[in-house]
Amino acid sequence: MTEQIVILDFGSQYTQVIARRIRELSVYSTILPFNTPADEIAAMKPSGILLSGGPSSVYAKKAPLPDPGIFDLNVPIMGICYGLQTLGKLLGGEVEPCSKREFGKSQLQVVDKDSLLFKKLPKNLQVWNSHGDQITKLPPGFKAIAKTENSGFAAIENREKGWFGLQFHPEVAHTPRGKEVLTNFVHKVCGCSNSWSMRKYVDQAVEEIQEQVGNEKVILGLSGGVDSSVAAALLHKAIGDQLTCIFVNNGLLRAREAEAVKDLFGSHFKIKLVYSNASRDFLSKLKGVTDPEKKRKIIGNTFIEVFEKATKRAGKARFLAQGTLYPDVIESVPIAGNPAAMIKSHHNVGGLPKRMKFELVEPLKCLFKDEVRELGLELGLPKEIVYRQPFPGPGLAVRILGDVTSKRLEILRNSDAILIEEMKSNDWYYKIWQSFAVLLPVRSVGVMGDERTYDYTIAIRAVESQDGMTADWVKLPYDLLEKISNRIINEVKGVNRVCLDISSKPPATIEWE
Ligand code: XMP
Repeated sequence: MTEQIVILDFGSQYTQVIARRIRELSVYSTILPFNTPADEIAAMKPSGILLSGGPSSVYAKKAPLPDPGIFDLNVPIMGICYGLQTLGKLLGGEVEPCSKREFGKSQLQVVDKDSLLFKKLPKNLQVWNSHGDQITKLPPGFKAIAKTENSGFAAIENREKGWFGLQFHPEVAHTPRGKEVLTNFVHKVCGCSNSWSMRKYVDQAVEEIQEQVGNEKVILGLSGGVDSSVAAALLHKAIGDQLTCIFVNNGLLRAREAEAVKDLFGSHFKIKLVYSNASRDFLSKLKGVTDPEKKRKIIGNTFIEVFEKATKRAGKARFLAQGTLYPDVIESVPIAGNPAAMIKSHHNVGGLPKRMKFELVEPLKCLFKDEVRELGLELGLPKEIVYRQPFPGPGLAVRILGDVTSKRLEILRNSDAILIEEMKSNDWYYKIWQSFAVLLPVRSVGVMGDERTYDYTIAIRAVESQDGMTADWVKLPYDLLEKISNRIINEVKGVNRVCLDISSKPPATIEWE
């Protein structure tokens, strides 16, 4: 049985982040619903159990609570935030609403330096909180091991049982030393070894895919981006020729992109590939459309039509595979009352119409981008694909503000190719999250030789990011910017001005539309 930590999910947006942190510690973890029966958990022989945070309040009528049988399993348990409050409630303590909701950074002071949880950590730590309830009376057998200004019970422990509770979130980046707290729990308290690796992930994922798919056929929409490429390689390893990839050329791709995809997956990997060139169809439907959301809708709908036809060519399949990553899943969940969380129609999770009766296979759903890259390398994909920068589904259409025409596409494609070439040859391309050109439909006056020009502007967008959810613009060296600008203006007909986008996300987005 694989050595593992079980994470019970109480609905926190950070549950997957906890799982990811545990993977970073070279330990396997499984996320289970909060109410998984204790005997099922026992059968998995976990080395420890983590109770995630969650949006509920433990004293609400329908508060999600774990099977109390988990407390008889004789394994270490640690509750985080809401998880701590469930410990408080179920083990005989008291939980009440805070007089003031605690949200954001605070200073944690360790009051029991003998606790294994804070081994090798300083007495004062910055931590991140997000809670409206707190423990006001400790359950029997527990004592406080750390406090904050607002709470005497910011971390608690029942040493005899190996039970812990944290009011703060150790899994988020805003708790800078949180990973060490988790290491202490996983390695020191639960006694896990560093036995898990991406190699093992491949074996597990292959097994899971085989189990889910059986002898059935699977179709995958291949875009040539990192996610669908890694999904294709993983699925191909698991089920070989039961997989057919469909590659749609929507006419909005970058220079030489279609050829590169056909070469790698068709010729090199020998994956069954259906190539559908629908460029004309897409462009005629986009004619005259300037509204970004409308563009996305048209592209999305046309993609579905073209894809549906291609699936018929590919032959009947029961499953559809998608390279959905964890951040796609969370960005697609609208958070009530938060306008910033409004979904863009682009993260096309589950986007196909019901008449296309497929069951989904999403082998990357729990992974973050950098983990997917690591997985890609493990599967033998080339660096150019694995470290390829993300490219949006609607392609260059969201980088041409206003009307998308063949002429504008050509200008943008040529400008982008120069930018990418320079980024690569100057060693910047693989260092950053994304770098690309955007075509602004504003025309301005310029002079070239003796002639007056009246041409478009290209904006350079280069950003650093961990996961695409926040981003900062990259301070590229002036001489590189100068070279890119000179080359674009000299080599691309139709451009006479290049400017640099110096906005971060938020409040801007990475793409321009
Ligand atoms: P934004 O523009 O929302 O982009 O800051 C965040 C990340 O997502 C990529 N992106 C897309 N990916 N389909 C995709 O598959 C899309 O429609 C899409 N729009 C944006 C973007 O390139 C960035 O990495």
